[in-house]
Amino acid sequence: MIEELIADSLTAPSWSNTRPFKVCVATGERKDRISAEFSRRWSKLSKFRNGNIFTKIKLLLTGAGLPTSHRLMARPYVPELKPRAERVGKELYSWIGVARGDRKARDEQWAKNYEFFGAPVELFIYIHKSLHIFAANDAGLMLQNLILSAHARGLGTCLQGAVIIWDDVIRKEFDVPKDYKLLTGLAIGYPKDSHINKFGAHRLSPSAVIIPPRVAD
Ligand SMILES: Cc1cc2nc3c(=O)[nH]c(=O)nc-3n(C[C@H](O)[C@H](O)[C@H](O)COP(=O)(O)O)c2cc1C
Repeated sequence: MIEELIADSLTAPSWSNTRPFKVCVATGERKDRISAEFSRRWSKLSKFRNGNIFTKIKLLLTGAGLPTSHRLMARPYVPELKPRAERVGKELYSWIGVARGDRKARDEQWAKNYEFFGAPVELFIYIHKSLHIFAANDAGLMLQNLILSAHARGLGTCLQGAVIIWDDVIRKEFDVPKDYKLLTGLAIGYPKDSHINKFGAHRLSPSAVIIPPRVAD
């Protein structure tokens, strides 16, 4: 079924038909090993984020859990985008009953990313560095097709930027060519009928993204 999803994903348009991306399919024990290593690192990173100065120094010295790729991802959102990211965080945590200041509970929820939310399959999407943003655009088009195809088969998916900070863990399991850069993860499985899966993220109105002309018609 994963091959069928990937075949559907490849019906998307692509820059000169180059398909500048590759996919690692992690299942079974390989997926479990990656998940275990991610979870171990997240537990250290979470301690680093929430710890006092001594804990921080200790973890900095050992380097345990610190990002090994996409280190700049942890930078704060710019003022234009920050309220949107904050809104979805606030609404999601309120939906599942986690208080705003409860960093421990928030980190525990985030930790589920590293169990791939219990999904049996995790994809890791890599893009060719030479095509820069255009490769990411192609991968996005491909992924949207894949997600829709999965949805049509009763599957659920979750894109996971959370996994991109420890590329070395994936490369230990897959022979990823060095010209490729990790873009995102994607968890795939049959969704549970759970409360969290009924959460609906807010959508912007079209006027929030349409740039008005300099001079009105
Ligand atoms: C590239 C990308 C990375 C994402 N990374 C994560 C992630 O690491 N963990 C997560 O729970 N959701 C992640 N999301 C999901 C978004 O938070 C979600 O799509 C958004 O809040 C809208 O919600 P909806 O897709 O459920 O409607 C990601 C989405 C995209 C497009």
